[in-house]
Amino acid sequence: MSAALKRRAAEAALAHVEPGMRLGLGTGSTADEFVKLLGAARLDVLGVPTSERTADLARSLGIRLSTLDETPELDLTVDGADEIGPRLALVKGGGGALLREKIVAAASRRMVVIADASKVVDELGAFPLPIEVVPFGLEATRRAIRARAAALGLDGPLDTRRAPGGGLYVTDGGHYIVDASFRRIPDPEALARSLSEIPGVVEHGLFLGLASAAVVARDDGVVTLTP
Ligand code: A5P
Repeated sequence: MSAALKRRAAEAALAHVEPGMRLGLGTGSTADEFVKLLGAARLDVLGVPTSERTADLARSLGIRLSTLDETPELDLTVDGADEIGPRLALVKGGGGALLREKIVAAASRRMVVIADASKVVDELGAFPLPIEVVPFGLEATRRAIRARAAALGLDGPLDTRRAPGGGLYVTDGGHYIVDASFRRIPDPEALARSLSEIPGVVEHGLFLGLASAAVVARDDGVVTLTP
């Protein structure tokens, strides 16, 4: 997606921010645009970042930061998404921050998703679903994911994510990510329930019932989608 569209979505989301708000700050290239605009706007807000990367960016821009331990209830989270499906079901975690993103979104009264129109899909699954797993028992957990998926009629490669420099990618929480290329996920609720039952799975990138709105930038303007 073009940087201009990311920025346009971020600008529109800034209109949802009021001084004094406690804000969840998302992760990813679109969320970065929002954080940059927030910093430039010099609004008196308190930010809870969803990754070390976002924390570094926000800090460099002078945004006041907190944690969910000090500030356990947030007014609004603004974050990107890898896919936005029907009823604003999301796939997230392409940037590897899905666990903190989901905890922060769940602690927020509202979650506004920012994206360009290419992220809006009729059915989730073309983007590989990130599944965060503990390193212990990785292969057994992958097999359990495969079996649970097969029971729902889903199959496809399960790739353990690698870091750009080689070696396995490690999340901020010290976990690995398995990217599941199911191609289509016709029943996200059933898959989410099933994945959550696997002991080695810490969290998955299906965000269901969390987004209050999606601000989507298209070439012809910005539209707001609701569930
Ligand atoms: C980070 O873990 C992800 O959930 C991102 O929010 C998502 O991948 C969107 O990223 P981009 O805005 O960079 O496409």
